[in-house]
Amino acid sequence: MSILKTTAKVLRQEEIAQDIFDMTISFPEGAKIARAGQFVGIYCKDGGRLLPRPISICGIDPSEGTIRIVYRIAGEGTREFSGWKAGESFRILGPLGNGYSPGTGRAVIVGGGIGIPPMLELARQIEGEKTVVLGYRTGAETFLKEEFEELAEVKIATDDGSEGVKGTVIDALRQGKVEGDVLYACGPMPMLKALAEYAREHGMEAQISLEERMACGIGACLGCIVKTDKRDQHTNVHNKRICKDGPVFDAKEVFFS
Ligand SMILES: Cc1cc2nc3c(=O)[nH]c(=O)nc-3n(C[C@H](O)[C@H](O)[C@H](O)COP(=O)(O)OP(=O)(O)OC[C@H]3O[C@@H](n4cnc5c(N)ncnc54)[C@H](O)[C@@H]3O)c2cc1C
Ligand code: FES
Repeated sequence: MSILKTTAKVLRQEEIAQDIFDMTISFPEGAKIARAGQFVGIYCKDGGRLLPRPISICGIDPSEGTIRIVYRIAGEGTREFSGWKAGESFRILGPLGNGYSPGTGRAVIVGGGIGIPPMLELARQIEGEKTVVLGYRTGAETFLKEEFEELAEVKIATDDGSEGVKGTVIDALRQGKVEGDVLYACGPMPMLKALAEYAREHGMEAQISLEERMACGIGACLGCIVKTDKRDQHTNVHNKRICKDGPVFDAKEVFFS
């Protein structure tokens, strides 16, 4: 799979919830080959921050030559991105990682927090029956919810109960008695661990995307390994590189600590 290291341009950017930004990028070569569940590495212009920041692809439009990302300000890198204006150029690496393999059968699509954006492009690409479950901190930050509602039935969980079910996406799945054939998910590790268990209990396949800390983003530094039941061809041990072999894994192959 080709990885491009090139210059991209901001087409538009807006704050869609507190500290959550929605940016559309002109990146025609990337938009032609990108898959749902892949990510891009975005370089800061501040030379003090050398490593690209991994951000999932939330939307792909090959005809317009654009990619959309939605991100939360987590530190100085993402704070810098949030200040970029339309027309501004920056360096980009990608598309990176493997992406989801949308299958047939009833899909259950689950996103938690900043794991929600990549699920939007996936939900667009899955044509059959699908249920979407989204977990937010509070009802005041239900970014992208309306766009999911145009595509599928959506169930919401919030930490404070201000919208939907009070609790986690697992609470929303259990209360809604949500079942399906394949579960696709992205979010924090404890959520993915619980979802792997939920999928096992309900006899579902599960494709989970691990958004762990990364360094190089291209498989060279081993800074992002996860223990799995299969050997990595690069290291020949039971580790896989999230950036290169993932970020999407079959939940059955991941050892959760
Ligand atoms: C494959 C992948 C896809 C991602 N997709 C998105 C996305 O679509 N939208 C989005 O908002 N964020 C996403 N992230 C997280 C994003 O990469 C980090 O928030 C970002 O790199 C932080 O950079 P920074 O310079 O702003 O903050 P830093 O100064 O580098 O870090 C600030 C804080 O964020 C924490 N942090 C850094 N990286 C991560 C991470 N990977 N996961 C959790 N916490 C982290 C640090 O521990 C620290 O507390 C993704 C991460 C990965 C690995
Ligand atoms: S971040 Fe370097 S190998 Fe994954």
